[in-house]
Amino acid sequence: MGRFARAVRAPDLMRMKRGGERIAMLTAYDFTMARLLDRAGIDVILVGDSLGMVILGHENTVPVTLDAMVHHTAAVSRAAARALVVADMPFLSCHAGTRDAVRGAGRLIRDGGAQAVKVEGGHPVLPVVQRLVEAGIPVMGHLGLTPQSVHQIGGFKKQARSRSEAQKLVESARALQAAGAFAIVLEAIPAHVAAEATAMLDIPTIGIGAGPHCDGQVLVSHDAFGLYDEFVPSFVKQYANLGSLMTAAAEDYVREVRNGEFPAARKPALSGSFPE
Ligand code: KIV
Repeated sequence: MGRFARAVRAPDLMRMKRGGERIAMLTAYDFTMARLLDRAGIDVILVGDSLGMVILGHENTVPVTLDAMVHHTAAVSRAAARALVVADMPFLSCHAGTRDAVRGAGRLIRDGGAQAVKVEGGHPVLPVVQRLVEAGIPVMGHLGLTPQSVHQIGGFKKQARSRSEAQKLVESARALQAAGAFAIVLEAIPAHVAAEATAMLDIPTIGIGAGPHCDGQVLVSHDAFGLYDEFVPSFVKQYANLGSLMTAAAEDYVREVRNGEFPAARKPALSGSFPE
């Protein structure tokens, strides 16, 4: 199966795994970024709760609310013509009972326009995953470093390093698949553990800091494009340094405004300029 001209949807990811096609996923939190990624042919756009850090300036993802997720998901969905839009279920939204979780996921789908939600964790969230899938909501799992548990983990640390932790992770992945998840993000785990889970599962794995053997990869766009430098994980590859470009452009603008160079005396011939 070749790359899709039509929109990518959750079942396509399983077909991609079966066909040996790698899945490319990036985060976006607003219309403009989502449109650029969609035009680039990205398969999945994740409206990650990483927006708490890279958009809202928090230290971690814990303060992100469902309202914020719905707000940003709606902006992304308006831009995504082809990519599958997956929205994160934020901190505690899956732990106050399945009814609450279904209502929350329903808002991300109905009001936010996402086609799937992502849920962090293993066994404690299985009843929620099952209920969401029964309700017709595709669920992506997330194992390994689950940032919403940062206080319990004690920081953003690599997970599943011991044999017993690795076995537990592989077991959780199997259970998520059985509960109906259509894909699983594996974050910050050893490459050999990700390889084992990937080989064992029928559903695709999407790695971040989990080595090259996953069925797909995801990065936080602000890391990949050099827009956020508060905390850059060691596994990140920077594909551009847009942060430096933007700072340099803003410096040019400040200088030109201050010395009267901009606006120029003659009307610039820009398309999209306002009529006289
Ligand atoms: O919130 C997020 O951006 C994520 C990715 C790191 C997978 O969950």
